[in-house]
Amino acid sequence: MSTSIRHYLQFSDFSADEYAYLLKRAAILKRKFKAYEKYHPLSDRTLAMIFEKASTRTRVSFEAGMYQLGGSVVHLTTGDSQLGRSEPIEDTARVISRMVDIVMIRTFEQARIETFAKHSRVSVINGLTNEYHPCQILADIFTFIEHRGSIEGKTVTWIGDGNNMANTWAQAAALLGFELRVSSPRGYEVDAALAAVDGGRRWKDFDDPMKACEGADLVTTDVWTSMGYEAENEKRRQAFANWCVDARMMGVAKPEALFMHCLPAHRGEEVTPEVIDGPQSVVWDEAENRMHVQKALMEYLLIGKQDGD
Ligand code: CP
Ligand code: NVA
Repeated sequence: MSTSIRHYLQFSDFSADEYAYLLKRAAILKRKFKAYEKYHPLSDRTLAMIFEKASTRTRVSFEAGMYQLGGSVVHLTTGDSQLGRSEPIEDTARVISRMVDIVMIRTFEQARIETFAKHSRVSVINGLTNEYHPCQILADIFTFIEHRGSIEGKTVTWIGDGNNMANTWAQAAALLGFELRVSSPRGYEVDAALAAVDGGRRWKDFDDPMKACEGADLVTTDVWTSMGYEAENEKRRQAFANWCVDARMMGVAKPEALFMHCLPAHRGEEVTPEVIDGPQSVVWDEAENRMHVQKALMEYLLIGKQDGD
């Protein structure tokens, strides 16, 4: 255990300067990838990925990204490791971090990844917890910048559940200086204890999702029922019925507004097919960009800032 190891457990773990570097670096790594340029700075380095919840994008983007950087990957799930037979997370952290160079975890409570990190000899990355999804918001901001330039001063509207994505957007707004509007049904609002940065509350709550979308540069949403909350599915379907991003909502946003969704999506619930499959949607770029930003993140955590392109 060491206090000097950098972990990426929530968006506020990095500074605005570090984000400026990572976002630039991700663009360089993306260009190299598109040009089939071999770049193996992480040869002999191993990433362990631990999944306690399902995943498509997170798994593929971390795994492919690590191989592209010359490293290798070990993939574990609760079901195929001793975690599923109640081995303490502390012991798991002590053991795995003696054999690999970096760890990515997708799990339930944030406290669980924090406990792992506390007992890890190597950097730990949050690949989604109930509370946060920092890698996804990093990809979303990178995607916004690719399409529209700097996000500073822009208006981002979150429609729906005050969940891990919304909490992370709120932290990002505080760090990177954009306006965040959140419209959620009563009882599903963002929790200030999770979303504020240094006690600062940068988002504005809106009862009316249409009002929240007015003049927005980006409208974004997520499933009504996140992983781990399946027992609330029916109750949530009723509560969220008016929080479906549709053409009316996109129609009051700026004409050049983008639509994002971290995926997987439920067409006809949180978003209509015409919006997610329409011209303002950048969801496929958003998914691909997970890999590019995470490559920059792993490179940074393992070998620090890199010059050159
Ligand atoms: N957006 C996202 O994290 O997708 P997966 O659940 O497929 O990893
Ligand atoms: N909020 C969703 C995101 C999935 C990538 C969940 O936690 O299930």
